[in-house]
Amino acid sequence: MTTTEKVAYITGGAQGIGRGISDHLLANGWRVMVVDIDREAGEQYLAEQRKREEEGSSTRLCFQAIDVCDEATVAASIAQTVEVFGRLDAVINNAAIANPFQGKLEELTLERWHQVLNTSLTSSFLTAKHAARHLREHGGCIINMASSRAIQSEPDTEAYAASKGGIVALTHAMAMSLGPEIRVNAVSPGWIDVSGRQKTAPSETLSTQDHAQHPVGRVGHVEDIAALVAFLISDKAGFITGQNHIVDGGMTRKMIYAE
Ligand code: NAI
Repeated sequence: MTTTEKVAYITGGAQGIGRGISDHLLANGWRVMVVDIDREAGEQYLAEQRKREEEGSSTRLCFQAIDVCDEATVAASIAQTVEVFGRLDAVINNAAIANPFQGKLEELTLERWHQVLNTSLTSSFLTAKHAARHLREHGGCIINMASSRAIQSEPDTEAYAASKGGIVALTHAMAMSLGPEIRVNAVSPGWIDVSGRQKTAPSETLSTQDHAQHPVGRVGHVEDIAALVAFLISDKAGFITGQNHIVDGGMTRKMIYAE
């Protein structure tokens, strides 16, 4: 199948923020390849999308169950995406072991350290490496999902913080190497409520304080991130590359001293 509609490749897109980005792009005429290690979540998403299609829209979503840490798998998955959709315009590197708290530094195993860095940081290198030649054809974009934890921390978050700090640096390095044809930006979410787009319903609900502590008065929505990503990969953002865009309701600008 070939198409003139734009095509996005989203890692970790079966649920959470990645799925929100996919929903947003699908609603705006993009075709999307979602890849995720969680086959069940991906198939659930695909089934829900197919149901919507029966209600009117055309097939725009594909899903592959893959591990983004494996180079040969990533290379084959990107090649297959181009084969299925005929082109590639944007890569959204969103997959991660999204829990920042991986235990105390002195007890953190090297294996877990590598797992956290590979899933988020190394995978972003791998997709860029194998997608670059396709992205160049139409002037494409890469978005790397970082975190406000790239620039601030709580205890016991070393591997996650390092992976996200690495992503911010990888982003400006790739922007220099891949420009002018390909623009590369990082997005750093703060606290985003992903409960509406998870495979399983959340066990806890957000408190009034969770919202009120944010300068904007609320925890973030998946749509807050999706809207920015959509802007950054559009032609309207043609003068923006190599940057880290923080979307955190003002939390990283808030000075906090104990009373
Ligand atoms: P999530 O856990 O809902 O989604 C992450 C997805 O990545 C999951 O579907 C998971 O199966 C997939 N994944 C994990 N390992 C994989 C692998 N090896 N291969 C392929 N897929 C894999 O997490 P969420 O909250 O949606 O986070 C998405 C991104 O946003 C992550 O990069 C996270 O670090 C970042 N972020 C999230 C924040 C939040 O408050 N939700 C805050 C700051 C950053």
